[in-house]
Amino acid sequence: MNPVTVSSPAKVNLFLAVTGRRVDGYHDLVSVVAPLDFGDELRAQPAPEGFTLDCDRPEVPVDESNLVLKAARAYAAATGWRGGAHFSLTKRIPLGAGLGGGSSNAVAALRALQQLAGGLLPAAKLAEVAAGLGSDCALFLGNTPVVMRGRGERVDALPEAAMRRLRGRRVLLFKPGFAISTPWAYGRMIARGTDYLPAAEAEARLAAWMDGTGPAEDLLLNNMEAAAFEKFVALPLLLAKLRAETGVAVRMSGSGSACFALLGEDQVTAPLVARIHECWGPGAFVQEARLL
Ligand code: C5P
Repeated sequence: MNPVTVSSPAKVNLFLAVTGRRVDGYHDLVSVVAPLDFGDELRAQPAPEGFTLDCDRPEVPVDESNLVLKAARAYAAATGWRGGAHFSLTKRIPLGAGLGGGSSNAVAALRALQQLAGGLLPAAKLAEVAAGLGSDCALFLGNTPVVMRGRGERVDALPEAAMRRLRGRRVLLFKPGFAISTPWAYGRMIARGTDYLPAAEAEARLAAWMDGTGPAEDLLLNNMEAAAFEKFVALPLLLAKLRAETGVAVRMSGSGSACFALLGEDQVTAPLVARIHECWGPGAFVQEARLL
């Protein structure tokens, strides 16, 4: 059987309202998330049995802690499939960035195995297995912007008119040399206690945008920023400069540390890129992409 190669997109949270803590230790949220035309690539080579992984980037763990292998085991458990695969991951999405790289890789592994095994999992069961692997996994099952609720596992399509205001938009992703751990960021929200946006307010803001005609810029929100910005002051300093100098709409994505700017179709990125490298150093990650 031939190997299969699947793309594994990054995502940005255009709207992220963490609304409160849950009894299971997670947080409830309301978020509009868009996958991007930029991401990793996962190749699955059929093997007689067992699952193994290699990656072109040495900082990526290739042991059982990697979500690709967790996803493969979950797939085998859910279907009873007895085959195996060797996965090769081409990593482009930075780690600890809030760009969903690990979650996206997990869903890519499920997709690749669906192809190798002949589609053994019905769509509803695939969604259940994906949600079990991580809060951000379910959003990667489709290739369109979606609304996430619950801890992230409940995914709804956006109304067509709202979707049209997002799809194809140009974005500039940029990340400093440091990462932010998602559990740390949520931990800081708990400690601060003042950043939550009540669910009714979050839903009202989202509904107002969906019912209106405003562009993606009017939707942007992330109430995880305050917790991250308190410690990592390089983030708000650069975002404020970019806003003031170029007028772009900028936000942190998810729990950070990556941020993004919404770009106009004809906008020249050189001044933004120059400012990013000046503030965060020549090693800062910068990547242009489009919302899928
Ligand atoms: O589900 P996932 O493994 O991606 O979540 C990583 C960590 O982020 C969780 O252990 C939890 O601390 C935090 N989290 C949360 N609420 C969410 C998603 C993640 O508190 N909705």
